[in-house]
Amino acid sequence: MSKKILVVVASTRPGRLGPAVAEWFVRATAGTASALGVEVEVADLAEVGLPFLDEPEHPSTGIYLHEHTRAWSRLVDSADALVFVTSEYNFSMPATLKNAFDYLSAEWAWKPCLFIGYGNTSAGTRGVQMARSVAATMRMLTIGGDIFLRIADTFSDGKVIETERLAGRAQEALTELDHVADVLRPLYRAEREIVPAVLADAAELLVLQRCCWVEEALANDRLDLPALLESEHEVRNALRDWTTWVVRLNGRLVGSARAKRDGESWLIGRLMVAPDQRHDGLGRRLLAYAESQAPAGVTAASLFTGERSEQNIAFYQKAGYSLSSSGDETPPGAVSLRKPL
Ligand SMILES: Cc1cc2nc3c(=O)[nH]c(=O)nc-3n(C[C@H](O)[C@H](O)[C@H](O)COP(=O)(O)O)c2cc1C
Repeated sequence: MSKKILVVVASTRPGRLGPAVAEWFVRATAGTASALGVEVEVADLAEVGLPFLDEPEHPSTGIYLHEHTRAWSRLVDSADALVFVTSEYNFSMPATLKNAFDYLSAEWAWKPCLFIGYGNTSAGTRGVQMARSVAATMRMLTIGGDIFLRIADTFSDGKVIETERLAGRAQEALTELDHVADVLRPLYRAEREIVPAVLADAAELLVLQRCCWVEEALANDRLDLPALLESEHEVRNALRDWTTWVVRLNGRLVGSARAKRDGESWLIGRLMVAPDQRHDGLGRRLLAYAESQAPAGVTAASLFTGERSEQNIAFYQKAGYSLSSSGDETPPGAVSLRKPL
């Protein structure tokens, strides 16, 4: 999957220098980007055209009323890293950049970013300093190699004077952004992706499984279900014994599944999706993902569910499972299902 680095041009006034700086950066890094397999896209805030923040809800809710916000959200969300090309206005960043930051929340989080500042005496450093603290508040990670351009020394006829030294700094910065994005990806893509669970997920997993297994208890008319009775300590221990995956939405844990090897079988269990996130294919995706993680030498996936959990049984049969004879791991009141892999 190729990564995208989004170059945001902050200033919007007629006759601005911002686009020329972005053009220089794209040109200077073209070879490096293609060697790394990275796509570099420019988002010019003059074209993005955001009005002053006009959303009624706090951006952390992800509830966006206006199409301009949704489009901005999609664009920032698609980025793996950001480059902010920003001038200095009155010792600060342009209001357009602060406004563009304020529109979103989760879309920025955990992504690496670089600043390219430009200005007169300060070469844009004071503006970038302000913008860096906003970026940190949005949980972005600023990398070290910010670039500062003093207008009197680095521009001629409205264009950046291209030198090898400057191009080299841009190329190093792009490479660093790419590497840091690789490391941070499990964090910033955790919103939608199936990622390995960590021990710190135990409390949320416990809440989700208790919530999901209430239906199991009702359907099967029994309360002695381990998923309902386990303590947080037991869930933590299970995270050590099983390979467990989770899915988060706006930071909230909304789905999970786990698996472990038992001879030639790949035991899949604790497939759960928060009630309000069902009927959107997440359960199917988690199941297919768990199956895809089976190690070599495994010949079948096996799992169990309550013998009266008709919806679950139908779900698994649709996914290619057939009822099978119960194995040692099958608890009382449950049926086993199996699917050749
Ligand atoms: C409203 C305004 C405020 C400015 N304040 C500063 C400043 O505080 N420090 C500085 O070095 N340059 C300042 N400048 C000069 C800008 O650095 C210079 O005009 C630059 O080209 C602005 O970026 P832009 O062309 O992309 O709009 C300011 C310019 C404007 C228009």
